[in-house]
Amino acid sequence: MNIVVLAAGQGKRMRSELPKVLHPLAGRALLGHVLACARSLAPQRLVVVVGHGAEQVRAAVSGDDIRWVMQDPQLGTGHALAQALPELDDSVPTLVLYGDVPLTRVGTLARLLKAAAPAALGLLTVELADPSGYGRIVREQGAIARIVEHRDADERLRAITEVNTGILVAPTPALRRWLAALSNENAQGEYYLTDIVAAAVGEGMKIASAQPEDEWETLGVNSKTQLAELERICQRNVAAALMDAGVTLADPARIDVRGELHCGRDVAIDVNCVFEGEVRLANGASVGANCVLRDCTVGEGTEIKPFTHIDGATIGASASIGPYARLRPGTELADETHVGNFVEMKKTRMGAGSKANHLAYVGDAVIGERVNIGAGTITCNYDGVNKYQTVIEDDAFIGSDSQLVAPVRVGKGATLGAGTTLTSDAPADKLTLSRAPQVTLERWKRPQKGGKKH
Ligand code: UD1
Ligand code: CA
Repeated sequence: MNIVVLAAGQGKRMRSELPKVLHPLAGRALLGHVLACARSLAPQRLVVVVGHGAEQVRAAVSGDDIRWVMQDPQLGTGHALAQALPELDDSVPTLVLYGDVPLTRVGTLARLLKAAAPAALGLLTVELADPSGYGRIVREQGAIARIVEHRDADERLRAITEVNTGILVAPTPALRRWLAALSNENAQGEYYLTDIVAAAVGEGMKIASAQPEDEWETLGVNSKTQLAELERICQRNVAAALMDAGVTLADPARIDVRGELHCGRDVAIDVNCVFEGEVRLANGASVGANCVLRDCTVGEGTEIKPFTHIDGATIGASASIGPYARLRPGTELADETHVGNFVEMKKTRMGAGSKANHLAYVGDAVIGERVNIGAGTITCNYDGVNKYQTVIEDDAFIGSDSQLVAPVRVGKGATLGAGTTLTSDAPADKLTLSRAPQVTLERWKRPQKGGKKH
């Protein structure tokens, strides 16, 4: 089939500089959700009609498979679809989706396509407790006769609770005919796509319809309030899917997945965690409360303790991270590593069994196995212009409050005394320290309040 996504509208009620269809839902643009759904139907042609913020929309959404069509000015949904006609293949039907209706299930669309096959006009309709604002489905002896927009409807028609979701499928040659004949004589002075229904009925065509399983599949976003409502629905669905797959969630209402979260067996996630991009949690991994994990992999049985922030890191099995750890891009921690509170790591590889348990900055470093990094250790990796690497070999012990001025190397089994400022390499198996000799001033007296001034 052809699929046309209408996305030219301004979305005034969002009160934003960002085009409406680019507002994120679960970390992905509204239009991105619609395109993902469209692609899973494997259309022959995928057309997106843009207008408001067209350049921004095109730049933000990727895909060589998309045929972009410009609608300027925006004269209504019928006018929008008419702009796409030159891109459509007449030998297959055309499915129309909206760029601001992001949560429609593929199965629902498949049912609509089936109901309309082989050559009928098919509408996705839904019963709403409060239908106001929507186009009403007018039926005569059960058969759909036309759609009347809310603003063009009288009291009697406004009482109808079956509404047009906007999603429809039509035989393409017929669509050309009907769109060419549209007029804009209505309350909004627009070319209504919905008027093709009366045209089809006039030709004696039967109008098919299908309904979604859930009302939220047809909800659109017109305001920040509706966006937030859809976000909650979306997150509730994600949480349900995770639990169905065996993940333990301390509270399904307090998890946010803004991307893809892949979990092994027996994964446990405490409250208020945010997952962004692509996150993988292996079997038995656990994530404590209030963590933010983005584009990372967490190995089997590893424990991420509360208030930890991870971005672009890979963590091995049986490791312990946090509480209050920050792992930045390029961090690779091997199995059984420990990274404790207030430790920041960036572009650092740390070998199996190594530990940095408290208060440290470790950047641009290669650390071997069984290394102990004492509290307050800092790799001085930046001279204001360039960044340099620190290498710490297996079994080294870095005393507390040491500064390693890169580029520098600590040899295998070396020990640095506490407070060392290391400016040249520390040899293997030796104690190296840089420390002003300790003195005691025997005759020194602490000044007294009210005492004599010198
Ligand atoms: C439309 C339907 C209405 C239906 C409702 C469902 C028409 C005339 N009415 O009304 O029956 O109940 O959707 O939400 O179709 N768009 C363009 N170009 C335009 C106008 C709109 O691309 O010139 C796009 C918008 O970006 C949006 C979609 O079409 O994605 C719907 O437009 P909108 O103005 O929200 O239509 P409604 O008035 O809500
Ligand atoms: Ca709308």
